[in-house]
Amino acid sequence: MRAVVLILLASLAAGQELDTIVAKGQRKGANILDQVNDPGERDLYLKIYRETTPVTRRTLATEFLRKYPSSWLLPQVLEAAAKSSMEMEDYPTGLFYARQSLRLFPENPLLLVPVAIVQAKRGERKAAAETAQAALEYLGKFAAPAGLPERQWAGVRDSLQETAQQLAGKAMAPAAKGKPDAISAYSGSASCERCHTAQFQAWKQTGMARMLRPFEAENVMGNFGGAEFTEPGGAARMIHTGDNYFFEMRRSTGQWDRYKIAFTIGSKWQQAYVTRAASGDLHVLPVQYNRLQKKWLNYWRIIDPENSERTDLGAFHQMSAVTSYQQNCAPCHTSQLREKGFAEPGINCEMCHGPSAAHAGGAAPRFQFQKVDNRAYVQVCAQCHAQSALRDPQAFPPRYERRPYTEFSRKAFYRDGRFRETTFVVESFERSACFRKGTAHCGSCHDPHSPNAASNPTSLKFRDNPDQMCLQCHPAKYSAVAHVKHPQANEGARCVSCHMPKIMNSLLSRPAAIRSTTNPMPP
Ligand code: HEC
Ligand code: HEC
Ligand code: HEC
Ligand code: HEC
Ligand code: HEC
Ligand code: HEC
Ligand code: HEC
Repeated sequence: MRAVVLILLASLAAGQELDTIVAKGQRKGANILDQVNDPGERDLYLKIYRETTPVTRRTLATEFLRKYPSSWLLPQVLEAAAKSSMEMEDYPTGLFYARQSLRLFPENPLLLVPVAIVQAKRGERKAAAETAQAALEYLGKFAAPAGLPERQWAGVRDSLQETAQQLAGKAMAPAAKGKPDAISAYSGSASCERCHTAQFQAWKQTGMARMLRPFEAENVMGNFGGAEFTEPGGAARMIHTGDNYFFEMRRSTGQWDRYKIAFTIGSKWQQAYVTRAASGDLHVLPVQYNRLQKKWLNYWRIIDPENSERTDLGAFHQMSAVTSYQQNCAPCHTSQLREKGFAEPGINCEMCHGPSAAHAGGAAPRFQFQKVDNRAYVQVCAQCHAQSALRDPQAFPPRYERRPYTEFSRKAFYRDGRFRETTFVVESFERSACFRKGTAHCGSCHDPHSPNAASNPTSLKFRDNPDQMCLQCHPAKYSAVAHVKHPQANEGARCVSCHMPKIMNSLLSRPAAIRSTTNPMPP
């Protein structure tokens, strides 16, 4: 128990901003405490962190909770109060604080294991097994907390795993990662068309297939009429001559450079533009066109931290790593990434179905969604729809480790712990009981190759009767007025109106478009 207590606070050393880390190798730490402005709050937190006597630590923790009841550090301080109480063998108080901490931050094996131990001590065997099972799942999923050296984490993880396995009465399957499949194992979407014409035709219309496209004038959403977009330190001018489209960028020195558009990114709410540098590398222009607001915007100013390099219009001519398409966008917007370049622009069949050259040549398909559980299903989509995935080269289906959520900047969350940004679709969905205790997966509600993408840009199933999304699993009694509290014709009677409220910020400035797929009532 003692080791577990110490590890907890060390795991807080790091904090990350949104959307800046794409691959495992790019991970770096920043101090999460930097996000806490009140020096008194920081000092008291550090005191709790350094205190070794459980009685004193708990006193400090309760003092913190009284003084800073809406602090960002609540989950951690509640965790300290819980573990101190457990060390003092005051189990009811320990469980009381633990429950509150886990409500705010459920994916915390460092707390779940001690809770399971206490539950077992109190003879609550079923609860202990469930808690231990959850701990095992998270231990298998998350990377080492950034504040801990990998080796130290391995030791802690193994001992937690051993305890949890005993309490859960189950062994954990090791998450083996194979070597990446050879490029020759893939045959590209064109090779599927002749046998799967319907899926091919439908897929071609989806946003995923059209994510990155070689430039064609007819695909352009933005207004290239020559208007100037000006910011201190730089400017952009979007122009075209016939079918040739350009960005002109002004440096801080006043000099204008001209860049020909080579690719467009996006076909629905927002579009970004890509140019090819003399080196052959692709670079993304910082100014994007938002179709809903009908205007150009410097998108990085909206989502990046204040000092982000790539927001600087005047520095674009440097074509540095921060504007590189390959490094910053390609893993989620293109298929079969290579050291340089990719096999196909857009998200092709084999990003979801796995390498299929052998299958296209007559062998049975290697991976079948129908034959895997919902964990493995969602894992495929999580390659791109999970903000926390730490991408590193490996065999299909990839099992990316996740960056612990405590490392993300506070602006990624509401104070009640719920995710705030649409880029956490997978993370918020994985918190729901429908996923954890049930068999729900992305395909329960979405058709990945929707046949009517133009009229159904979010590829939803059951569009005429959206309650069916839920009633395929939940009994009809939940449609009764007694439960939905509104007349059936009223929008308020839809399951999603209450259970998937539109609370996630659409990074694409689509007004409240996405609804959190999370359980609105935390565990
Ligand atoms: C020569 C024809 C042919 C080609 C080419 C072909 N397939 Fe298939 N595919 C089939 C047949 C037949 C089945 C159904 C029988 C089976 O399951 O083996 C199938 C089944 C599938 C399934 C369904 C598996 C399931 O869950 O039941 C998927 C997914 C699939 N193919 C993907 C692809 C992809 C991706 C490509 C292109 C890289 C491709 N196929 C190319 C003939 C083909
Ligand atoms: C290789 C990256 C990648 C993978 C893998 C992936 N997606 Fe996507 N997905 C995207 C991107 C990028 C978009 C945005 C497309 C747009 O808005 O134009 C998107 C959009 C969507 C949409 C909105 C409709 C559309 O096509 O634009 C749905 C629904 C969706 N994805 C579901 C899934 C599901 C379900 C899976 C897993 C079976 C999955 N995605 C796997 C990258 C991916
Ligand atoms: C972690 C995966 C990931 C990375 C990295 C990523 N995107 Fe996306 N992008 C998505 C997903 C998923 C969507 C779909 C939107 C959603 O989830 O609401 C999307 C949507 C978009 C859209 C809107 C498309 C439309 O049809 O409206 C644009 C534009 C875009 N991304 C540009 C970029 C650029 C430029 C980069 C690199 C600088 C980038 N993205 C990096 C996953 C990613
Ligand atoms: C974004 C991920 C994604 C992409 C891209 C994708 N598929 Fe699928 N596909 C799925 C999923 C998920 C299923 C399983 C659907 C289900 O039953 O839940 C599926 C099912 C299928 C099936 C089984 C029959 C059916 O329609 O359910 C075939 C065949 C298939 N896909 C072929 C293709 C081909 C060919 C392409 C490219 C032209 C493609 N898919 C692109 C995710 C994808
Ligand atoms: C219980 C049903 C349900 C499940 C399960 C579900 N979604 Fe959704 N999803 C929705 C609804 C409802 C919307 C909002 C659609 C709208 O407003 O048109 C949505 C929207 C989206 C969007 C559109 C965001 C945009 O800005 O374009 C994407 C992408 C998406 N979901 C991906 C996923 C992925 C990936 C999974 C699995 C991890 C998933 N969804 C699971 C119901 C669901
Ligand atoms: C694939 C099946 C499936 C789908 C689809 C599904 N659920 Fe669930 N859901 C479950 C299961 C299983 C549970 C856990 C029941 C239990 O605790 O025994 C659950 C639990 C819940 C709970 C209780 C939450 C809690 O924390 O205990 C709510 C609320 C809920 N679902 C609402 C919805 C709504 C609303 C939708 C549609 C948007 C939906 N579900 C779609 C299977 C599903
Ligand atoms: C007007 C808002 C509202 C609507 C509409 C609504 N619910 Fe609920 N639902 C609630 C509230 C509030 C609770 C919480 C009760 C609780 O905490 O036990 C709940 C609880 C639930 C639970 C969990 C019950 C339990 O005992 O754990 C399920 C499952 C559920 N709703 C499904 C649905 C489905 C399916 C629909 C659509 C047919 C729906 N709800 C529509 C407000 C709503």
